[in-house]
Amino acid sequence: MALRNILTDGEPTLMKTARPVTRFDHRLHDLLDDLADTMEEANGVGLAAPQVGVLRRVAVVCDGEEVIELVNPEIIAQSGEQSGPEGCLSVPGRYGIVTRPNVVRVRAQDREGHWFEVEGEELLARGFCHELEHLDGHLYTERVERYLTDEEIEEMMREEQ
Ligand code: NI
Repeated sequence: MALRNILTDGEPTLMKTARPVTRFDHRLHDLLDDLADTMEEANGVGLAAPQVGVLRRVAVVCDGEEVIELVNPEIIAQSGEQSGPEGCLSVPGRYGIVTRPNVVRVRAQDREGHWFEVEGEELLARGFCHELEHLDGHLYTERVERYLTDEEIEEMMREEQ
């Protein structure tokens, strides 16, 4: 297990477009393992490679039980709408209301290069959208309708326990 340093808002790497993965080798496997470890250590539900300084199209998203590994992911279908609080490990301590599709279908490669499709609803759909935007150099803060107050954040944390 290896933890990587998470870049925070203001780092130029977070604003850059990540390159596609072409080699499904041990370096990719190490990156995926480290992303999952780093995400879990930080109590996050998703983490993208640019957030640890690697400009490759790789992300992990937790569906509540398992870690979904996404290599070269793209959204191929989306429907509905949801509005709710969103946070980011690169923007510590802040949460903002963001509107996202309610259902998202993603096509991606796994760590061996095999293509697969996965569908997410609600929180998982939000996670897919959020992490895929990191691969194009965008943060959720660009979409925030309003930030939560400290009282609202405390209430949200209580509800999650
Ligand atoms: Ni994020």
